[in-house]
Amino acid sequence: METVVSGIRSTGNLHLGNYFGAIQNFVKMQYENNCYFFIADYHSLTTHPTPADLHSNVKQVLVEYLAAGIDPEAATVYIQSDLPEVAELYLLLNMNAYLGELERCTSFKEKIRKQTENVNAGLLTYPTLMAADIIIHRATKVPVGKDQEQHLEMTRTFANRFNRMYNVSYFPEPFAYNFGSELIKIPGLDGSTKMGKSEGEGNALFLADAPEVIRKKVMRAVSDAGPTEPNQPKPQAIENLFSLMKTLSKPETLQFFEEKYNNCEIRYGDMKKQLAEDVIEFTTPLREKILDLAKNEEYLRKVAKNGAEKAKESAVKTIKEVREIIGFKPF
Ligand code: TRP
Repeated sequence: METVVSGIRSTGNLHLGNYFGAIQNFVKMQYENNCYFFIADYHSLTTHPTPADLHSNVKQVLVEYLAAGIDPEAATVYIQSDLPEVAELYLLLNMNAYLGELERCTSFKEKIRKQTENVNAGLLTYPTLMAADIIIHRATKVPVGKDQEQHLEMTRTFANRFNRMYNVSYFPEPFAYNFGSELIKIPGLDGSTKMGKSEGEGNALFLADAPEVIRKKVMRAVSDAGPTEPNQPKPQAIENLFSLMKTLSKPETLQFFEEKYNNCEIRYGDMKKQLAEDVIEFTTPLREKILDLAKNEEYLRKVAKNGAEKAKESAVKTIKEVREIIGFKPF
């Protein structure tokens, strides 16, 4: 049984790409590992949200993850800022994190390019906070995508540096949890290969989207005039519609439209209508759970409180041991 940590960005609603790409795997993992899933609200302060936005974003993310099947009885689900031990470990790690290595981090370089009017120290030290999140539980596995690989590499650097500095083997090295072939990639509706919320309005289908919104987005998905010869390879945008259908519709439905395509009889209007209904069938129970949970403040409070208590057990232990190793001793 390995200890797994993953931080969840506290902004944005979940879309089908998040669901099939990550959440589904978190759900499977939580029964086989000692999982900590937290909402990264400290991290979100780098963009200066208002207090009201901060709170409603955290709530929405919590609600959607629970609705999608993260089980607070199986995994430890908590809010990052409920664990000030993380902030203490972050401070301690910052003492051994060097300006040069932090400045070289790709995500920092990208942020200072895009967020020129707000280049704060939190952006620079994002990797030490992320390292603190992970090693506070002495985790060995982190289920994140390729875009987080450099942060993980830095986490290993900080953990090893601490061990070397104090001549201990206290922190294990965390590695990315590889889902391998189980990973389902969900394409965008705009003809691009990836569903993402930053790719523009209408590219992503959110779990909380109402049926009429889903119909509108799917009907507007990029397609073309259709094939003019039988058995042609599919252009990317068309391939995308088929691959959504493959994930969400019945095999017979997919086969029906495959045949139509191969005979040059396909009408994308019909295909999209069917696809929209299949998406709605899939998302409706999730959406109902989201709406239900959002009303159940008492349950959410209980989940967050229990999660914080469980997470604290390992965080408090780590901080106590780290303090001893460093040489903070009571008189
Ligand atoms: N940086 C991660 C992201 O952008 C979020 C995150 C914060 C995280 N702390 C973490 C992920 C710790 C894994 C482990 O998605």
